Amino acid sequence: MIKTYDVVIVGAGGAGLRAAVEIPKEYSCAVISKVYPPRSHTGTAQGGVCAALSNMEEDSWENHAFDTVKGSDYLGDQDSIEVMCRDAIRAIIELEHMGMPFSRNDKGLIAQRFFGGHTKPEDKNDPYGKRVPVKRSCYSADRTGHVMLQTLFENSIKNQVTFYSEYFVTDLLVENGVCKGVVAFDIANSEVQIFQAKAVLFATGGYGRVFRITSNAHAGTGDGSSLVYNAGLPLEDMEFFQFHPTGLWKLGILVSEAARGEGGILKNKDGERFMARYAPSVMDLAPRDMVSRAIITEIREGRGIRGSDGTDYVLLDLTHLGKEVIDEKLPEITGFARTYLGVEPTTEPIPIQPTAHYAMGGIPTNTDCEVLLNEKGDTVKGLYAAGECACVSVHGANRLGTNSLLDLVVFGRRGGKAIAEFLKTAAFSDISEKADEKTRELIDRLLTSAGNERAVSIRTELQNNMMEDCGVFRSEAGLKKMIVKLEELKERYKNISIQDKSRVFNTELVEAIELNNLLNNAEATLYGAYNRTESRGAHSREDYPKRDDQDWMKHSFAFKKDSGAPEIKYKPVVITRYQPMERKY
Ligand code: FUM
Repeated sequence: MIKTYDVVIVGAGGAGLRAAVEIPKEYSCAVISKVYPPRSHTGTAQGGVCAALSNMEEDSWENHAFDTVKGSDYLGDQDSIEVMCRDAIRAIIELEHMGMPFSRNDKGLIAQRFFGGHTKPEDKNDPYGKRVPVKRSCYSADRTGHVMLQTLFENSIKNQVTFYSEYFVTDLLVENGVCKGVVAFDIANSEVQIFQAKAVLFATGGYGRVFRITSNAHAGTGDGSSLVYNAGLPLEDMEFFQFHPTGLWKLGILVSEAARGEGGILKNKDGERFMARYAPSVMDLAPRDMVSRAIITEIREGRGIRGSDGTDYVLLDLTHLGKEVIDEKLPEITGFARTYLGVEPTTEPIPIQPTAHYAMGGIPTNTDCEVLLNEKGDTVKGLYAAGECACVSVHGANRLGTNSLLDLVVFGRRGGKAIAEFLKTAAFSDISEKADEKTRELIDRLLTSAGNERAVSIRTELQNNMMEDCGVFRSEAGLKKMIVKLEELKERYKNISIQDKSRVFNTELVEAIELNNLLNNAEATLYGAYNRTESRGAHSREDYPKRDDQDWMKHSFAFKKDSGAPEIKYKPVVITRYQPMERKY
């Protein structure tokens, strides 16, 4: 039987739920999610959500927009950035009114803290002269994403949304540029279900699990971007993947940038505050791409600390902040350090290393979250995307911290609004009763395969090699090697079998399908990175160390081919107010 809803939202993180809140009650709306909504990855976002509220000091949306453009290394589309930064102030007040419990300043207003790359001009009359850090990130201790997710979940329940939790979407039904729905299976019993919809919004998050060390939840396997790619639609700017400078050593669990926002300092093995050498004006509050490169450089040049397992780290020192500040403002992350590394952050520095954190690229959309059919800007009727899985290009080549929670509330809402408008005239498209055949075959094939490959081995090799050859620093030789490895892993994937033959909560089956999604995301990332012969933001090519505005002020659009390399086309960056400049901090 086909289930029919006016709107199907895939993903129950911040973007999906914010969109769901926006759908008028007269329309039926289903949210399908691989996990229970309060367990979505948005819940792990820690340090804040930014907006130029001016609650702590004078600020403006223009300051925020300029920082976002500069942080993006001028690859962000400036029209989209303007939409986001202008709307940020309203979006935060709206969250407050929805019931989100923000931390407060002395005046009882929403508290704001420093975060990397958020600045304002020292002299108002010289907007592009020396800039100093500004408190722009609104927070709830270091669990901002957690409380945002709970607030949006409660509000979507109030909006009478129907949830399909622990359903895994395996197919996107798009024909002749029109989206008709999706196919999913219920993880509890592997029953396959067709969902017909007038509009589908993907809010499926990122794909950090492609890397060995990542802050991403296990669910972060890029399912939405992979489905879009499989459907013959492009993925944009996939070569830009952000490494957050401070993941817990060996584990990658996020140690919020809020720690540095509150005054934490990075130190090498000699106790030196090394960021003074890399970003003399903002130091530890430089953007993430720069701080991650600085940490890896310290380690490569022998100033890291060698751990018992032979891997290296540097230190994040919070000891001077005092127990009161740590307990009030950074309770979660310091708890992680205690629990997972046995370190007491009030008296000892925390061992950290860069961790794969955020996909700047993804499913291309316009500012109404309509998914693009091609690099020319044509759209797919009835298909929308928002949040980390999408690329409206507000983050360009490098996202500023706390712009991600902002992105998902601003564009989640815009996607919901655009769908509400679309539904006024939209009709259901015909859908075949057999639309689920592909998924049924996939499940049967995986359950009965006698192949000799295990998903876990292929995944581990993928993650280790991506970390090595497509991480913070890249080169032609490393990327070439990784492409050869990827093609080998894709071949081996055809021969996987799973040991658990049951249809009840078969997590091995889920992981096998997720692995194919990881391989697709890795493919678009790698070929994009190989082709882009410059360094920009998070894409740092050691063989092409300079940014090349002459040839590369353009977004990549990767289209999947039956085998081998994707076809890559390009689309120019939208520049409105800010001409590219040298990026110095
Ligand atoms: O460091 C953090 O708290 C992460 C924030 C973000 O990625 O925006």
